[in-house]
Amino acid sequence: MVMERFRVVGGGRLSGDVRVTGAKNSVLKLMAAALLAEGTTVLEDVPDILDTAIMAELLRRLGCTVEHDRGRSSVSITVPAMPGHEADYDLVRRMRASICVLGPLLARCGQVSVARPGGDNIGSRPLDMHISGLQRLGATIETEHGNILASAPQGLAGATIWLDFPSVGATENILMAAVLAKGLTVIDNAAREPEIVDLCEMLASMGASISGAGTSTLEVEGVESLRPTRHVSVPDRIVAGTWAYAAAMTRGDVTVRNGRPEHLEIALDKLVTAGAQVERVLATDEAEGGFRVVMDRRPKAVDVVTLPFPGFATDLLPMVLAINSVAEGAAMVTENVFEARFMFVDELARLGADVRTDGHHCVVRGRQRLSGAPVTAHDIRAGAGLVVAGLVADGVTTVADAYHVDRGYPGFADQLQALGVEVTREPDPDALLAGE
Ligand code: UD1
Repeated sequence: MVMERFRVVGGGRLSGDVRVTGAKNSVLKLMAAALLAEGTTVLEDVPDILDTAIMAELLRRLGCTVEHDRGRSSVSITVPAMPGHEADYDLVRRMRASICVLGPLLARCGQVSVARPGGDNIGSRPLDMHISGLQRLGATIETEHGNILASAPQGLAGATIWLDFPSVGATENILMAAVLAKGLTVIDNAAREPEIVDLCEMLASMGASISGAGTSTLEVEGVESLRPTRHVSVPDRIVAGTWAYAAAMTRGDVTVRNGRPEHLEIALDKLVTAGAQVERVLATDEAEGGFRVVMDRRPKAVDVVTLPFPGFATDLLPMVLAINSVAEGAAMVTENVFEARFMFVDELARLGADVRTDGHHCVVRGRQRLSGAPVTAHDIRAGAGLVVAGLVADGVTTVADAYHVDRGYPGFADQLQALGVEVTREPDPDALLAGE
């Protein structure tokens, strides 16, 4: 494989329309949810990114037929009467979200073996809440040779589960197991992210009985079986937020079509505090609705604290650090969800940002401009954040390990080009040397 990097020419200004597709963090779970019903489920507005391709491969290995129609942005998944129940390490380690097949396969097959993902570049990511929640539903769970083995030969039974923290992944796994369990399951302190609501809506259209979606108490009355469905994914609020911050940083004017401002309330409010104008854009016969961000001044520094939804999304942390690095004044940014997100800070410092971390706090003192340099993407959002930071840096910035960004942003460089800035991809000569 030829490793690529982004080449960013600083000084541009984003201007124009951009459309966001369905959310990566929803679609991956919706694809796993398809396993809950025999037959063909169709998902629409699926982004053409690496992670959806990995999930498609995982489902194929479980015996499903998966077709991605890129022209129509739809994925059809045909699930056999009895899918396989083993997800191997080679796929799980490429994409940690593969763990979301645990709940549906346990519910469908009564047994499942999923490789245990290791840590990753945003920190240690334990699975204790996934496991204890499924145990509460009656599953026996062991870890052997690096695999999580779960079984419930007599079927699962509804129970009340209190989560220590509103974990997105644990809520999803427990929910997807509970829909086929006998009786009532209550998930308390459940995650409230729009992607959870989207999953609940899809499950309901498959025949599940769920109430409380979008609140911290989910009630699920188990049913005997579910039917396949057709479902359009919720738009990607993290990609939409990335465009909003990129527009504001570059003092641009961008309309984010299919973006839902109600999913980004705090993030957009912070941009208003920073000096941007943000307005909802209504749909017309010709164009989808969304929102518009206009910035005509140097941004003012904004303090941010990340929290589970409806708090400020941890996935937008790189964007906040990047905007503050060129803002007027100083800001305190606090990360409460993933401890290692601040790995991004060292790369941003290579671009000349004045950033200092202490535990989960980071103080950023704004500079007029950053200074272009070679940097490296360590994860999806950090990669996007560095590309955007390169736009407000003098000279050329290269961002190595572009493949991280491909996991979550369809055609990122092309979309940036279409908005009028100079971002291209090129083979990374240093990566080639390192590989020899
Ligand atoms: C999902 C998103 C990720 C986002 C995150 C928080 C996907 C594919 N990824 O990740 O982009 O940043 O939500 O919005 O949807 N935890 C435990 N024990 C557990 C489970 C989680 O301690 O059993 C901890 C994690 O280490 C982390 C926190 O809970 O500190 C939040 O994790 P969680 O909400 O589960 O995130 P993911 O579902 O992994």
